[in-house]
Amino acid sequence: MKEFIYGLPKVELHLHIEGSLEPELMFELAQRNQVQIPYTSPQAVRDAYQFHNLQSFLDIYYQGANVLIHEQDFFDLTWAYLLRCKEDNVVHTEIFFDPQTHTSRGIAFETVVNGIHRALEQGREALGISSQLIMCFLRHLDEASAFETLAQALPHKDKIIGVGLDSSELGHPPEKFHQVFQQALKEGFLTVAHAGEEGPAQNIDDALVLLGTTRIDHGVRCVEDDDLVTRLIEARVPLTVCPLSNTKLKVFESMAHHNVVDLLRKGMCVTLNSDDPAYFGGYMNDNFMAVAQAHPMSREEVAQFTLNAIEASFISDGEKARLR
Ligand code: HPA
Ligand code: ZN
Repeated sequence: MKEFIYGLPKVELHLHIEGSLEPELMFELAQRNQVQIPYTSPQAVRDAYQFHNLQSFLDIYYQGANVLIHEQDFFDLTWAYLLRCKEDNVVHTEIFFDPQTHTSRGIAFETVVNGIHRALEQGREALGISSQLIMCFLRHLDEASAFETLAQALPHKDKIIGVGLDSSELGHPPEKFHQVFQQALKEGFLTVAHAGEEGPAQNIDDALVLLGTTRIDHGVRCVEDDDLVTRLIEARVPLTVCPLSNTKLKVFESMAHHNVVDLLRKGMCVTLNSDDPAYFGGYMNDNFMAVAQAHPMSREEVAQFTLNAIEASFISDGEKARLR
């Protein structure tokens, strides 16, 4: 099974580029940019990655992003991720970035988007990896800040296919961003949202109805509403599930308790993704392996995760046919 998983072409749909910042690169950038970090070695950084919920992770994750200053830093970060994609046979990836994490520190939106975009272009040419870019609004900030961010994105429509919603789900439900998502839709962006990770199943429904999302990030708490599960299956609404993230952040007690294989067998369009691989201990192959070890599957079932991800991706029908 390991050989089959490693050889399987994979499509990643839920990856925060800031969450792919490995401790070694964090150290290198801290030195290069003269930024103080509260660790003495990459190993000390890894040792600090003990999380008990989403917020305990987010606090450390936003702190890590402080070393990213120049366009070249965002290029280097994205390029390192693409090299890991190549190793894991990821042939297409749709990555998130959090502009407000950087603009709030005085880094220009252009600096961030241009660095990431340049690496994605080089990945297409030199590595044969296709990609899309999605910008996320931080839901712990207010809607006015999201509107500002949307305005900053308008000159970069050629580089950004959609908008998403991430950060602390509890206390920051989809309706808080109803207006800005409606505006983003009018501007021609596709929409996605993290929902039903730590928050209730109702957030999934609200993301679909109020935010016009065409897929849901995480969504694993859908099982708390039988009627919602039926509708997600019938409408083929994709869920971008992140197994190692969910166990590290205690959304599930262990991989044996994870529901993604159950949802796959019910016929839901579930996909496997790495979320923040530098923080949660694994990229795509590790996520596939962890699920397969805890939930023995046939090869057809494992391959169905890739077929679902192709179906759920934001690429043309022609491109989808090529990937299949
Ligand atoms: N959930 C919410 N916000 C995030 C995540 C996540 O899994 N990863 C990075 N930002
Ligand atoms: Zn996420």
